[in-house]
Order: sequence, then C-alpha cells, then structure tokens
Amino acid sequence: MVQHIPVLLHQTLEGLAIKPDGRYWDGTFGGGGHSGEILARLEAAGHLTATDRDAVAEERAKQYADDSRFTFQRGTILEMTEQLDGPWDGFLWDLGTSMMQLKDPERGFSFKEDGPLDMRMDRRHPTTAADLVNEMREEDLADLIYKYGEDRLSRRIAWQIVQARRHERIETTLALAECCRRAYPKKHHRIDPATRTFQALRIAVNEELDQVSEPLPKAVAKLAVGGRAAIISFHSLEDRIVKHCFRELAANGPYRIHTKKPLVADEQEARENPASRSAKLRVLERMPDGWSAKKGGRK
Ligand SMILES: C[S@@+](CC[C@H](N)C(=O)[O-])C[C@H]1O[C@@H](n2cnc3c(N)ncnc32)[C@H](O)[C@@H]1O
Repeated sequence: MVQHIPVLLHQTLEGLAIKPDGRYWDGTFGGGGHSGEILARLEAAGHLTATDRDAVAEERAKQYADDSRFTFQRGTILEMTEQLDGPWDGFLWDLGTSMMQLKDPERGFSFKEDGPLDMRMDRRHPTTAADLVNEMREEDLADLIYKYGEDRLSRRIAWQIVQARRHERIETTLALAECCRRAYPKKHHRIDPATRTFQALRIAVNEELDQVSEPLPKAVAKLAVGGRAAIISFHSLEDRIVKHCFRELAANGPYRIHTKKPLVADEQEARENPASRSAKLRVLERMPDGWSAKKGGRK
C-alpha cells in the first residue's frame, strides 16, 4: 500500500501548538500522517475533524473510525469552511497532492507513467484534464499554461497540443507529456518539459487557487483566541495567496504571523523525502480583540 510521508511534521505541530483539549480541523487528511500526530496529542476532551475531497483519503480515515475524538467528512476546503462550525483551536491545510494520488497512474497526475489524463482529486467532479486539453482554444490553453504553470514556452506547448489533437483526442498522460517535450528545444533540461504544464492543468482541474483564496479569510475568522492556522503550500502561486492573505489579516485585525519567512524542509527531510523540497509552511495566530501587530502587540 502506498504511504504518504507527512511533510514539515514537527514544524507544523509546533506551529499549531496543540492544546490537549482543543478542537482542530485537518482540511487535507490525505493519508492521515498529520492527523495521526494531532490525535496523539489530544486528550479525551479534544476533537479532530478531518476532511478531504478524495475518496481514497476517506477510505484511509476509516482507521480512526472507532476513535470518539475523531470525525471525517468528505468535501472540499471551500465547502467545509462554510459547513463546519468554529471556534477552532487550530486548522491545517496541507495543500497539493498525496502520494496515493501521484503514484496511481489511473489518477493521471504523473507524467512519468502512462494513464488516463484525469487529475481530478474528487472523481465526482465533471471536468478532467483531458477535457481541458482537447476542448480549450489554443490561446486559452497557452494562457492557462503560462498563468498556472509559469512556463515561458506556453505558446509552443499549446501549438503542439493543438497539432496532436487534430489527429486524435489526447487521452493519456504520456501523449500530453510528448507534446510538451516536442515544444522544448533539444538540450538538457533541469526539469522535465511536462512539469509545468501538468501543474497548470492540475491547478485548473481542481480550482486549487480559489480553494485557498476564497475560504482562507473565512476559516481564520472561525479561530478561537489563541487558535492557529497552519498552511503548507507546494507552489509559489499558492504560497503568494497565503502570504498576502495573512499580511492583510494581520494589518487589520488581531492576528499574529509566526512565520515572517515560510518554514521549509531541512536538509535531512529534503534528502529523505523529495516531495518536501517545495513545501512552505506559514502559521498565523488569532490574538485577543484589540491586539495589534502595529503597536508591537500592545492593545
Ligand atoms: C499533501 S496531501 C495531505 C497529506 C496529509 N497531510 C498526510 O499527512 O497524509 C493533500 C490532500 O489534500 C487533499 N486536498 C487538496 N486540496 C484540497 C481541497 N481544496 N479540498 C479538499 N481536499 C483537498 C488532496 O485530496 C490530498 O488528499
């Protein structure tokens, strides 16, 4: 069975400063690595609500089905932010994909193995990556690859995609990866030419940026005094949203940013778990009303 190794684990637990009788929300349960460690720090009066949009995560959450301190609900961060009641002593969003998603070729997240071009974290969602690749106009596809993949060769990639789909629909990960490779000049590449296009499509299929920007201020508003928000992001677009949202909240309300710079994996973790290399953790704390960062924390 594929295991997901939780990233930045001790920094996240330290950031959340778990209260043994606290109420917590893990919005991205995945394989339950972070959730398990949060539960290990809770007493009988504490509670953890875990949620995830993926059916595989729901399956993995059954391991805690008999634990009265734990509940699981399937859904997106956006939906759960609306539905779950606060106040919380902390919440965690470990954004991005799990190893169970990445390593299963049937899910279509990886350009290293062949599989259907899917990329949906929630397979009830109607639109797959293949739908976007085959149905979007060339200019829109190029813009998407540029905006969400930050790939300078977006126009050439979109052109290659359109040439390929004239012959037949692009239905597999390797067929798309081949279009990206054809768009790149033949020389040594630091990363695979398909990397950024796959990132762009994944972000678009799962509406990843809206899933952070819309709910983050609302979720923070549900923190109890002393409650913490810990957000781990895996690409700069997402991290930028978290950084700006935290700054705006701290400039206008009783919030303290604990991570002036985001926390990243140390050398050992980066060596042992390559997936941790792009992870960035930011932590924000809800302070008592009247507290102001501008006054150096005085009321
Ligand atoms: C990086 S993994 C989390 C791993 C987890 N912390 C662990 O230690 O096992 C990300 C998980 O979050 C889920 N996810 C990502 N974005 C989501 C969103 N907007 N709403 C709900 N779940 C999301 C994915 O389905 C995936 O299972």
